[in-house]
Amino acid sequence: MAAVSKGEGGGDMAQFIAAMPKAEYHVHLEGTLEAEMKFALARRNEVKLPYADVAAMKRSYVFHDLPTFLKVYYEGMNVLLREQDFYDLCYAYLAKAHASNVIYAEMFFDPQQHIDRGVPIADVIGGITRARAAAQADMGIESQLILCFMRDLTASNAMNALDAALPYKEQLVGVGLDSDEKDNPPSKFAAHFAKARDAGLRITAHCDVNQKDSLEHIRQALIDIGVERIDHGGNILQSPELVALARQRNIAFTVCPSFSGKIVVDGKPVDVVRAMLDQGLKVTINSDDPAYMGSKYLTEVIIDTQARSGLTKAELVRISRNAFDAAWVAPDRRDRFQAKLDAFARKWAVAT
Ligand code: ADE
Ligand code: ZN
Repeated sequence: MAAVSKGEGGGDMAQFIAAMPKAEYHVHLEGTLEAEMKFALARRNEVKLPYADVAAMKRSYVFHDLPTFLKVYYEGMNVLLREQDFYDLCYAYLAKAHASNVIYAEMFFDPQQHIDRGVPIADVIGGITRARAAAQADMGIESQLILCFMRDLTASNAMNALDAALPYKEQLVGVGLDSDEKDNPPSKFAAHFAKARDAGLRITAHCDVNQKDSLEHIRQALIDIGVERIDHGGNILQSPELVALARQRNIAFTVCPSFSGKIVVDGKPVDVVRAMLDQGLKVTINSDDPAYMGSKYLTEVIIDTQARSGLTKAELVRISRNAFDAAWVAPDRRDRFQAKLDAFARKWAVAT
């Protein structure tokens, strides 16, 4: 298990974090495809993998930037071919999230990558939807689904995916923007976001950390597109004006410390979670692509982050409260989540 701070809260911090009711909004379902499942699906679907075994595959998970990560991430998806594969993928993630005491998740998926390989969108969304229902029935975990536009493909490719998915919009809660950010600003997808919003979908966008034009992309996402959340978004700390705007609009940041811990402000390294908390931004902690990041799911990610960012128990409860606040659900459902967190905080005598 990860290092546990012996400071505030002493040695029970890991138990506290494990038991805390959580929500997660920045997790790519395809990024939860563990090497073991890749081999099982490859066997089932008669797909040949370029690695002898699970250990060799995991040894190949070495990334030094977003494009090198994305190459491995997209290659991994080749084993996902049938409705049952998407069911298995989503159910396995929800079981792991449930084990982390995640009571509510909003999960990303990348339909373009599947459609372009000839997988019908009905099978992708159908398998995921069936798994969501089964996981809720079996474990009580609630979830929704966010369709991501792949920003490094053409605008028309993304529009085709949106049009293909809109007949299934009842199974979606929102749209997002992911993949390689370089020279792919949010403005490229203005028409897509507008169409999705008109269809009743909510809006978020990745602004990955330390990319070319990071701050301009955050500005476009907030001002030109009008996103409700930003996924990652740490570079906002380099702009007091944008920080003020995000605070005023109550924008939630889905930070993934496994992927994007530090940025530089005025020549000094800054811890994103710590600085966002201190500046009154609505920060949440998420796992992103856990199968590619040491198989750390939300409890372990938060344990690592608590130690790295020096988080107190009250701050951890605040981060979980931020997440429930940002849920794309009706107010009574949100209140139900918050009530579980309140009961937890009372049990642990954490003043919030
Ligand atoms: N696709 C999967 N994970 C991603 C990330 N962290 N940033 C951009 N695209 C992604
Ligand atoms: Zn992401």
